[in-house]
Amino acid sequence: MCGIIAAASERNVGKLLVKGLHRMEYRGYDSAGIALHQNDSIAHLRTLGKVKLLEDKMISEKPKSKLGIAHTRWATHGEPSEENAHPHKSNERIYIVHNGIIENYIDLRELLKKEGYNFTSQTDSELIAHMIEYFLNKGNNMLDSMYLTKEKLEGAYAIAAIDKEDDSNIIIARNKSPLLIGIGTNEFLAASDPLAISEHVEREISKIDISTQATSKGDFKHFMEKEIYEQPEAILNTIDGRVGGDDVLDNIFGLGSSEIFAKVKRIQIVACGTSLHAGRVAASWFSAISELPTQIDYASEYRYRNPHVDEDSLLVTISQSGETADTLAALRYGKEKGYLSSLTVCNVPTSALARESDYSIFTNAGPEIGVASTKAFTTQLAALMLLALSLAKSRNKNPKLRTRVITAMRSLSDTINETLKLKDKILEIAPEIANKDNALFLGRGIFYPIAKEGALKLKEISYIHAEAYPAGELKHGPLALIDENMPVIALAPESEIAEKLVSNLEEVKARGGTLYVFSDPSINMELKSGRIIKMPKCDFLLTPIIYTIPLQILSYEVALLRGTDIDQPRNLAKSVTVE
Ligand code: G6P
Repeated sequence: MCGIIAAASERNVGKLLVKGLHRMEYRGYDSAGIALHQNDSIAHLRTLGKVKLLEDKMISEKPKSKLGIAHTRWATHGEPSEENAHPHKSNERIYIVHNGIIENYIDLRELLKKEGYNFTSQTDSELIAHMIEYFLNKGNNMLDSMYLTKEKLEGAYAIAAIDKEDDSNIIIARNKSPLLIGIGTNEFLAASDPLAISEHVEREISKIDISTQATSKGDFKHFMEKEIYEQPEAILNTIDGRVGGDDVLDNIFGLGSSEIFAKVKRIQIVACGTSLHAGRVAASWFSAISELPTQIDYASEYRYRNPHVDEDSLLVTISQSGETADTLAALRYGKEKGYLSSLTVCNVPTSALARESDYSIFTNAGPEIGVASTKAFTTQLAALMLLALSLAKSRNKNPKLRTRVITAMRSLSDTINETLKLKDKILEIAPEIANKDNALFLGRGIFYPIAKEGALKLKEISYIHAEAYPAGELKHGPLALIDENMPVIALAPESEIAEKLVSNLEEVKARGGTLYVFSDPSINMELKSGRIIKMPKCDFLLTPIIYTIPLQILSYEVALLRGTDIDQPRNLAKSVTVE
């Protein structure tokens, strides 16, 4: 993972580079560093911890430079430390930043050690600097040295390198990892992500449609909080221009998609993390609305189970970033396996998944900065519902049901707004969860993935151990965990199995467990301890989106009470570009 940025300009680039790092901190934030060319020397600053600490060091040392490279790290090889922070250097001459993983680093490092190169870090990246210098010393110029180095490297990488002896060039290279080039006014930039350089790039050359407002917190304490409350608008943006009258519009996944959909007999979903939970909900919709069977896999597992692919199967990837290495690898693998077609549900139109899939739908959620996914998830669900409806339309299935769902989708944003008002009630329960070490989430059917998403949110940002179970499975093991220290958070919408769910919850009550139930107003339950929060009404098929909202607020408020680093929880990163 990690984020890299490089700039060569007629103005001072120090501030620009650090600002770019701040924007890419979602990619990793355990250490940061910068190398700035200063005519006959290089200012090399590195700090353990977040970019802010590097910024403080820059403010005190005030290095001036018109050419430099910088890095924010998510540790893979070697613990987070100043020595392992980038830029890495070779003999005070070549400085590099690297994003990705060099898979053959042990062999290459040994080779370079034998050539007399000294290694000062435990990273797989440092060898790149030595390798470039090795080829320079053999009489090659900097560009050829990078080409020759590239030939030796196996794995994924985006690299930017500078040479102390050359104050006007930055050499960049990439394989699999994202790296874009931007042209500003009298300056050239390169970065792992458009967010890092969007404000410096001329739109005529590369239109990057990200406003500064979208990347600032405004009046909110955290990006996650802002992103939770942006959901009514984000959902409108997902649906906008894609439905008309009482049905979904044709070809919203790309020209010819409606025709292809008519031939689909089976769906394969691959995704990671929160995106996988969206896929689990969608699998039920594909069955109920499109009458199609769905197989779903963790992207990291899919390639290794030797999947059998039936003809007329559609491969669907789901990813907020569109750059998740496992999901991308699954798509590339799938394309060799004879799928009818590939389609991605993604939030970033310029991403690798978007470029490499046959068809796509963008969730239009706007940039999501908080590591824990919120608006990206609910907009994925809305986009996946559009996919279920489109497949059904192309296959001439369930016209009445489609109309019912479209009608409900039109008021989804208002229902989310209503649900956000539950915050005051959630604030009353947050302290009771915040002082516990564990939590159990229960749901049934289409709500089981939502329970899983709720548990994931809580563990990610509050560090409370949380698991989710289909409520009917409780008696097959987890019931043994129930006591007054195990809060049980349950989702109880109105459904044909509501009574069975209530019986499952009675099992918890009978064992002294504390229940927090988000329920449809029609469900009758009495609790000795805990709380019932009544949810707004919504069409059953869309309720998973609505029931996600209070779980996001709950995790956020619990994490706030526990004083964790909500937008950048420990050990995690937003975009996982390593397998
Ligand atoms: C990371 C993020 C999660 C995200 C997952 C998949 O683990 O922290 O929030 O769900 O990656 O990312 P994607 O961009 O493919 O949706």
